[in-house]
Amino acid sequence: MRGLEGVFAVVTGGGAGIGRAIAERFLDERACGVAILDQNTDAVRRTGMQLDPEGKRCLPFTCDVSNLQQAKSVVDNILRVFPRIDVLVNNAGITRDSMFHNMTVAQWNMVIDVNLNGAYYLARLIYPTMRNQQSGRIINISSTSAWGNIGQANYAASKAGLLGLTKTLALEAAKAGVTVNAIAPGCIETDMFRAVPETIVQKYRDKIPLGHLGKPEDVAAATAFLASSDANFITGQCISVSGGMVML
Ligand code: CAA
Repeated sequence: MRGLEGVFAVVTGGGAGIGRAIAERFLDERACGVAILDQNTDAVRRTGMQLDPEGKRCLPFTCDVSNLQQAKSVVDNILRVFPRIDVLVNNAGITRDSMFHNMTVAQWNMVIDVNLNGAYYLARLIYPTMRNQQSGRIINISSTSAWGNIGQANYAASKAGLLGLTKTLALEAAKAGVTVNAIAPGCIETDMFRAVPETIVQKYRDKIPLGHLGKPEDVAAATAFLASSDANFITGQCISVSGGMVML
């Protein structure tokens, strides 16, 4: 089987930006069901309506992934509708950028809670289903910031943590037929990146060999590849989608 025909997927942070593009790409590749989770109820409902007006293949759920109880109840609801979960994309992420000397404990904890703990919670909740199926794909959306980025000690730590989680779970999950990979987007045209001051954006542009920012669709394409049967023999890896800004 090529592409994503027949696949049931869960995409966190699916209301906008990269998560929305991933959901759209999965639906384009004829996924059977894509559950999109987002803490922003309006955004996730709107995206669900836009991607699938009939509401048959794209199911929106309000979910703050940093809240384990809420995540559990959403996963339980998904499993009442989907017969299985083939792909989990841990994409939900936030920034609370600040120079380290100004960063508050609240800024640190908030980012770790959503970006790292949230991914752990979803994987923890969905991995047992994948083990039972003896098949599955977990794709963690990390970031080039994992290699260090001024003003992002909290975000970088969370995204580097995702890489450790990816490699360790890849080792453990291999026996169960589950692959675990990561993607490290660089500067992508999203609301998150649009908040970066223009003087700093220019510094980034100078560091991108391909000379321009990426689009959410660029990240969605790499995610679809890792979710597809073309990536059957790939696990524990990270693909940098950054126009060459970070070369692994
Ligand atoms: N590269 C080089 N220099 C940088 C820099 C960068 N990326 N970021 C900040 N600096 C420099 C500034 O130019 C400044 O230098 P001077 O003191 O010589 O003027 C110094 O560091 C301090 O910066 P600010 O004056 O901006 O400090 P601040 O306290 O007012 O603001 C900040 C700090 C909020 C972190 C602000 O610098 C900022 O928003 N930086 C951008 C952070 C960033 O890159 N976020 C990425 C968001 S997108 C994302 O995260 C997606 C992803 O996965 C990559």
